[in-house]
Amino acid sequence: MVATNPPRTISEGIFVLLVFNSMGRILSDNAELHNYWYVVARSADLTAAPISATLLGKQMVLWRDETNAVNSASDRCPHREAVLSHGRVEDGCLVCPYHGWTFSAGGKCVKVPSSTKDIPPPPKAQLVKFQCSEKYGLIWVCLGTPKLPIPTIVQDADPSFRRINTIVDKWKTSATRMTDNFLDMTHFPFVHTTTFGRAQDTVVPKFELSQLDESWYGFFFEIDANNESGGTAVSNSSESVVHRKMTTGFNLPFNVLTTIKYSSGLQHILLLISTPIDDLNSYFTFVVWRNDDFSIDAEEITRFDYAIGAEDKRMLETLPGVLLLGQTDLVSVQADKCSVEWRRRLTSLMGI
Ligand code: FES
Ligand SMILES: [Fe+2]
Repeated sequence: MVATNPPRTISEGIFVLLVFNSMGRILSDNAELHNYWYVVARSADLTAAPISATLLGKQMVLWRDETNAVNSASDRCPHREAVLSHGRVEDGCLVCPYHGWTFSAGGKCVKVPSSTKDIPPPPKAQLVKFQCSEKYGLIWVCLGTPKLPIPTIVQDADPSFRRINTIVDKWKTSATRMTDNFLDMTHFPFVHTTTFGRAQDTVVPKFELSQLDESWYGFFFEIDANNESGGTAVSNSSESVVHRKMTTGFNLPFNVLTTIKYSSGLQHILLLISTPIDDLNSYFTFVVWRNDDFSIDAEEITRFDYAIGAEDKRMLETLPGVLLLGQTDLVSVQADKCSVEWRRRLTSLMGI
């Protein structure tokens, strides 16, 4: 914890400064990161009532207007700072729970219940709004001006694939650590021992990085995966070990796409989302696309992936702070090269 009392000596002061820096807001205070899209909720979780979310330390309210479009604004009423997400939605407008001031989809105050009808709401009664979009069953928010589009998942436009959404979970780890983890296949035999990882050779053959399609940069690889218990539903195979042809790639800042192709032709595509709530906490959700015959329940399909995610979460929540982003701060080997390249591009994007 950072000391709450003022430091009494210079060395104590330096110590407090060092502790503060090590816990510093590397992500939340970076203005460049505001210019990208992040997932803050699942579309299905936003219905008639407003909900809250936090992105890069900014608390926001989300609500649906009269056209059912998603709106997002700072979760603070300009009147007396009440929490707007505790309010309600009326005719597509957001109503503050404290004194009932009512805000239109544009963020403008359209009603002050304490004023007579002939007095218009104060012009400064305006919410700070953020850009929103819905794609892939997810709600995406950009705090600034988007510099990249929401990444394309080519399978989403292919009718032979179905899409399955999952819950948005909170992980007590940095989005930087999550992205690094999702780009790393060398932890599979060590972390994913109760799911798919035990059959995998620990040695990773040399691989090259390339642009996989318009949105994703990464690599191809092949592994043998354990296929017991929940794995059989996902792979549609009863073999105890199945062979997977895979790609893993990133889309800045923190999106990862993994594709899995089984020898039967069945494909299982995973969009792995890491959203920085702040530097040390993140939302995690994943989306699955599959070209199966749609006969197996979505719950049965995702049970195995949830179990894999739980193994990652358990490991990541033991690691300290934000992933060190300097090129020489950490020791890496050939098998880490996708994460090293992602980190290089991320720091360039962040201007650090
Ligand atoms: S604090 Fe929102 S209406 Fe008063
Ligand atoms: Fe993992």
